[in-house]
Amino acid sequence: MTDLRDIVAAASSAPSAHNTQPWEARIRSDAIELGVAEGRTLRVGDPTGRDTVLALGAWTEAAAAAARARGRALDVQTLPALADPAVIVRAERRDPVARLTLGGEVPVQRTALDRRLTYRGAVRRVPGFLEAASAVVPPWIRLVPIAAGDLRRLSALGTADTLTRPGVAEELASWLRLSPQHPRYGLDGLSDRVLLLPPRLAALAAPFTRRRRLRDGAARVARIGGDLVRRVLLEVPVQAAGEAADADHFVLVVESDELDLGTGAALTRILNSPLGLPAETVFEAGRALMRVWLLAAERGIAFAPHSEVLDSALAQGELQYRLGLGRRTVPLFVTSAGRPLAVPPRSPRLG
Ligand SMILES: Cc1cc2nc3c(=O)[nH]c(=O)nc-3n(C[C@H](O)[C@H](O)[C@H](O)COP(=O)(O)O)c2cc1C
Repeated sequence: MTDLRDIVAAASSAPSAHNTQPWEARIRSDAIELGVAEGRTLRVGDPTGRDTVLALGAWTEAAAAAARARGRALDVQTLPALADPAVIVRAERRDPVARLTLGGEVPVQRTALDRRLTYRGAVRRVPGFLEAASAVVPPWIRLVPIAAGDLRRLSALGTADTLTRPGVAEELASWLRLSPQHPRYGLDGLSDRVLLLPPRLAALAAPFTRRRRLRDGAARVARIGGDLVRRVLLEVPVQAAGEAADADHFVLVVESDELDLGTGAALTRILNSPLGLPAETVFEAGRALMRVWLLAAERGIAFAPHSEVLDSALAQGELQYRLGLGRRTVPLFVTSAGRPLAVPPRSPRLG
């Protein structure tokens, strides 16, 4: 018999921004109710909830992959709370955002869940990956390549611009785990190991992430451009994956014209909303993103995401311009991808 608890455990390997693991799965007899865990959203860094909804979608796809590996389909029903900022952005309420139930029997399908990789070091491009990845996303999603030089520039711009927003550096610092002495070192957040920080830099910076007064002081310095703190706080490793000569770099975009989102005022309202899309569309895009990430895993390819490009209106605007993307094309995720040249460290998990 398929146990929903096994599926929930396997899905906890899903990716999330800053490794916040924002999901909360409750088992109700024959269903999994998926909600958002208190204190695990990025209220300042992710004010639209984009990354939280993508992570919830990725979690759901991971659960579906775990069910398929056991020969079962997973039926997914999204609920109105998915579009509620009180749930998605602030996690003040714990209403479920989706309900998952086991469906009929399907052919057993192997999953690469335990091989999925995020790696911020040097990689080598694997030819043909983007073409193969385009085949596992729905027709309203496109994976648009971006040149390495453009991404590097936009990443620097996004990083600098994001840093000037009050509270962003403090929030990020609260998710850094730079020393094994940190009480949450093995549980969540970003460790010195996954950020590939040199030990001396990590040791120097660790106190700034744990003591509030030091952290707030460091964030003030970061705001005026302190380079060392900026590197540590904004996940820019000394040797960025974006620097690798031959990685793939791409943007996952939603072509809203390909969806039935209405016309006139109704459509304008959606395009002008904080997410720029209906929440269910972003959730579905999170599921597609996870399918692409798992396809990568099957080929030994790791992702090095660059959300800073979308977190800054300046950088995002320039991205749309450089790639010739119109207003109805909404970018949701930016990443580099390639086969790591060293063994990637594992991210911590709550369990
Ligand atoms: C929506 C989303 C946005 C992310 N943005 C970034 C990012 O900007 N920079 C980065 O280094 N990693 C980013 N990541 C990767 C996470 O940091 C990573 O998934 C998390 O730390 C867990 O590690 P794992 O993927 O190795 O399990 C993002 C992941 C998701 C799902």
